[in-house]
Amino acid sequence: MIVGAQWGDEGKGKIVDLLAQHSDLVCRYNGGPNAGHTIVADGQTYKLRHMPSGILWGKECVIGAGCVVDPGVFIEELDDLEARGLSTDLVRLSGNAHVIMPWHLTIDQAAERRLGKLKIGTTRRGIGPTYADKAYRLGIRVQDLLDPKILRQKIEVALAEKNVWLERVYGAAPLELEDLAERHEEYARRLRPYISDTSLLVDRALREGKRALLEGAHGTLLDLDHGTYPFVTSSPTIAGGATVGLGIGPTRIDTVIGVSKAYVTRVGEGPFPTEIAGPDQERIRELGGEFGTVTGRERRCGWLDLVALRYAARLNGCTSLALTKLDVLSGFAELPVCTRYRLRGGTETREFPAHQSDFHSCRPVYDLLPGWQEPLDDVEELGDLPPAARRYVELVESDLDVEVTLVGTGAERERVLTRSAARLAG
Ligand code: GDP
Ligand code: IMO
Ligand code: MG
Repeated sequence: MIVGAQWGDEGKGKIVDLLAQHSDLVCRYNGGPNAGHTIVADGQTYKLRHMPSGILWGKECVIGAGCVVDPGVFIEELDDLEARGLSTDLVRLSGNAHVIMPWHLTIDQAAERRLGKLKIGTTRRGIGPTYADKAYRLGIRVQDLLDPKILRQKIEVALAEKNVWLERVYGAAPLELEDLAERHEEYARRLRPYISDTSLLVDRALREGKRALLEGAHGTLLDLDHGTYPFVTSSPTIAGGATVGLGIGPTRIDTVIGVSKAYVTRVGEGPFPTEIAGPDQERIRELGGEFGTVTGRERRCGWLDLVALRYAARLNGCTSLALTKLDVLSGFAELPVCTRYRLRGGTETREFPAHQSDFHSCRPVYDLLPGWQEPLDDVEELGDLPPAARRYVELVESDLDVEVTLVGTGAERERVLTRSAARLAG
């Protein structure tokens, strides 16, 4: 299980791609096209939205019931991958996954506009409204697309309510039943071969002794229940969500690798204690190429936050960590690392505040670590890191009591250092 340990964009796609070569299946269990996973392999850059990051290795790729799917984006992604010479024959889409309908996109966008300064800063891909309708039991599922009669009926029932909202609340144009039904019947023709009983498929694969890699989208602090609500996404992002989203039992998961950058980024609104106030913010953004994969928005950048990371290790039960983008920190004289929060009133804590007001008002307390000047391009193994970089990694391990088994030193597939001398890729 690979899970984002911060606010998303930790480099999960790259780590999943790296480990996928040793797996038989790669499974997504949450989210939809709000995810953007970048993989750089053989000089080519791939930006995946729905597709599990095992697709580059031709692995069986499962999109579980807990996901939401925008059929137009999904088909575009299939076409794009095929045009680049990759097979999509082993993509399996759960019939229980929910469909992002055009009204969800309109409502997400209009709701954000209405909130103004109070907006969440969503990716505007209709994610929140789709999961809301799922919980409200008004959702349209992938399997509904397969039966034109059911599809038409469900769209009609939804539109009776949605068009009132669109017109009266958001001042948007109503949607036409015929137009939507036709468009989605067309989508169905294309999606049909990919739709399958993915819970059964994963169970059978595991019984046959195959290896499955579960790929979490987004990050722990964006989790609907345990993240920085309301500035979160609308799905479970933590490791436990995988069993719900795929339909497998929790006993099937034996390893949980949390992925964290060597610093922190966040896209969208919401509290962010270690956000950098000075010019280093810009410096890290430029060095790390911190612009959103999905929206192109500037990512907010901050120093490594071990309080939040410790919280993530707890929520996910991380058995080890992958620390990505350590190369971006080369060239800094000193590197602040947040090990505690100072709460209003002056007390210091190492635990993530349970109350939102404490989190909103807390101040990071930093340990100042010496930086290193050398680029990490030629480092071959963890033991060869400059001493200051090694100390940086060791602080994370000792503070969290979790081993760092992978360290990222560049965007390319082979730029990962492992605990053992051997590289995993390349
Ligand atoms: P994800 O959503 O967690 O898969 O992460 P994104 O793909 O949205 O963002 C991570 C970005 O960092 C991508 O552009 C990756 O190519 C890049 N990246 C991943 N690991 C490393 C690393 O170790 N070093 C550098 N410099 N870039 C990396
Ligand atoms: P990956 O998988 C970074 C953030 C959005 C916003 C909040 C809610 O690439 O790491 P949503 O559209 O989901 O309703 O937006 O969640 N967000 C992400 N930020 N990486 C992601 O995915 C994200 N998915 C959602 O920016 O703050
Ligand atoms: Mg991303």
